[in-house]
Amino acid sequence: MDNRCIGVFDSGLGGLTCVRELSKVLPGEDVVYFGDTGRVPYGSRSEETIKKYVRSDIEFLMTHPVKLIVAACGTASAIAVPELAVEYDVPVIGVVESAVSAAVSATKNGKIGVIGTSGTVRNGKYRDLLHKADKGFEVFAKACPLFVPLVENGYADHEVAYIICREYLEDIKKGGVDTLILGCTHYPIMKSVISSVMGDSVTLIDPGAEVARYVGEFLKSNELMSDNKCGSNKYFVSDSTEDFGKIAGLFLGKDISDIVKQIDIEKY
Ligand code: DGL
Repeated sequence: MDNRCIGVFDSGLGGLTCVRELSKVLPGEDVVYFGDTGRVPYGSRSEETIKKYVRSDIEFLMTHPVKLIVAACGTASAIAVPELAVEYDVPVIGVVESAVSAAVSATKNGKIGVIGTSGTVRNGKYRDLLHKADKGFEVFAKACPLFVPLVENGYADHEVAYIICREYLEDIKKGGVDTLILGCTHYPIMKSVISSVMGDSVTLIDPGAEVARYVGEFLKSNELMSDNKCGSNKYFVSDSTEDFGKIAGLFLGKDISDIVKQIDIEKY
């Protein structure tokens, strides 16, 4: 039993999709969330900058009594976590591995799509791990940079989202994939649009949900579960709390405006 908290970070507020999933799977756990809203987006930055940012995100979370840290950010998970995780004595877990293992279990025809930020797709971590699981997999990857602003501006279900989605996913659809990894925090919010473009027969993999399941198993098997019935969450951001509080409702389904605090991430 271990009542320390779970740290979760993201480049902004998209990682709240992962917090929502963690609360479903592990309702007794306390969560400390950091959203790097002052330096978002990560998806279009250089690998060097992303690693620098991720290091400070982890350092900030380490100022809390964390037993485990989850990189909810798809870009951070693909680009920085493999190299930085080994530097810390608490486990730092990214979303890529559990999403890949869910996709490997789901696919029947071995044709798998991956969508994410430009950085995630360029880096190729998903493709590498899928090919490590099975060299015969055909992987179709596509960066979908407009999805993040669509979600953040409330257009996740709008007609414009369908038009952009059809355009982005055309080649992946033509490739005949039966499984599609939504490799960016924001994309699960567009699940219904993506599903209507891809068709019902395509399984959509939500990395936030998969990592939440993995964290649950990890805590159980390492006897690190909290014995609280109901956990509490803390939220920190590196820019104004006002906008974050408002949009956070979209991701969490509840208002957290009153409890979000701003910190100076440059200090970490
Ligand atoms: N959180 C990022 C991700 O999942 C998306 C937003 C960004 O580009 O920072 O890749």
